[in-house]
Amino acid sequence: MPLKTLTVVGARPEFVQTAPLAREITARKDIVGALVHTGQHYDYEMSQVFFSQLELPEPAHHLNVGSGSHGVQTGAMLAGLDDVYLTERPDLVITHGDTNSTLAAALSAAKLGIPVAHVEAGLRSWNRTMPEELNRVVTDHLSTWLFCPGEVAADNLRAEGLRNCVHVVGDLMRDSLLWTMRTVDVAQTLERFGVAPGRFFLATVHRAENTDDAGRLQSILEGLRRATIHYPVVFPAHPRTRPLLEGLDMPTGVRLVEPIGHADAMALAGEAAAVLTDSGGLQKEVYWLKTPCITMRNETEWIETVETGWNRLTGADPLAIEAAVEAALRERHPHPELYGDGNAARRIVDHLVTS
Ligand code: UD1
Repeated sequence: MPLKTLTVVGARPEFVQTAPLAREITARKDIVGALVHTGQHYDYEMSQVFFSQLELPEPAHHLNVGSGSHGVQTGAMLAGLDDVYLTERPDLVITHGDTNSTLAAALSAAKLGIPVAHVEAGLRSWNRTMPEELNRVVTDHLSTWLFCPGEVAADNLRAEGLRNCVHVVGDLMRDSLLWTMRTVDVAQTLERFGVAPGRFFLATVHRAENTDDAGRLQSILEGLRRATIHYPVVFPAHPRTRPLLEGLDMPTGVRLVEPIGHADAMALAGEAAAVLTDSGGLQKEVYWLKTPCITMRNETEWIETVETGWNRLTGADPLAIEAAVEAALRERHPHPELYGDGNAARRIVDHLVTS
């Protein structure tokens, strides 16, 4: 009998992570799988565009939980997932990353005695005020299989006493990036956004710590204004961020656009002079694309990208952002391989079917 899996997804980064894994599972005979969509992200540009572009299978179950406080949202997911797991009775549940959907997937399964595989395990920001840090710590400790993108993450788990079934497999986002870059028309994307190669910045801001404090968000806008001295900034605004920008001064030269899908994001990130972001996933993607990154947070889980010199942490300080932009335009660093080689999906499935 093939191993029966359910993979829970709900938010943008999970769609990108799960696409190569879904393809690998579909291609094999020793494992079967279906997707459960929690509905955490529900707008077309936040969800469906990823399913279409990444050719993800339609979810077998959709919980439609939508937005809410962390407790309301996670609680609704738990209730829905209990029902799905009891109906489907999978051999194991796969969960990605660090969102509320990640946590709910693991907690509901663990309480029902269903083993959990956590992909992107062992990441730590060491900042417990971040909801994502709480989600990933709890998920790691509930999981049977811990699939890490690199050795630093595996060491973090061992330091917390998690030693069994810790596997360094590389990062599924790398698999996804390679797949997307084969399909995307970069020149056509740049033309559509009205930008020239190497002569614009890409910016994204959606972390609660940056968006929920108007002073901090205004500081970031001032940092972006300073970047526009060099080049214009394309700023796809997450739906969380968009209303919070109203009432703040938007600098000339910063162009707000709707959220973009993976193909546009990768085409723009690959050709930007630098990317300014508070996203986790984008920090790695930008590294693989050999574009300098400026991370507008005080810490990062992707510490290797900082150690190589390709990523700079600035918080929301406009002067630090300005200095990082100038350094990014000036400096080039050696580019060692990080977070795998694009074969994470195959390694994950090999471990699951043989254990
Ligand atoms: C979530 C994850 C974060 C991840 C991000 C990727 C948690 C705690 N955070 O943050 O780790 O980096 O997804 O994008 O799970 N909204 C819409 N339409 C949507 C989705 C959201 O309008 O399709 C708005 C709603 O006002 C909602 C807000 O965005 O309240 C925040 O959405 P939510 O899913 O709670 O968190 P994200 O900020 O997206």
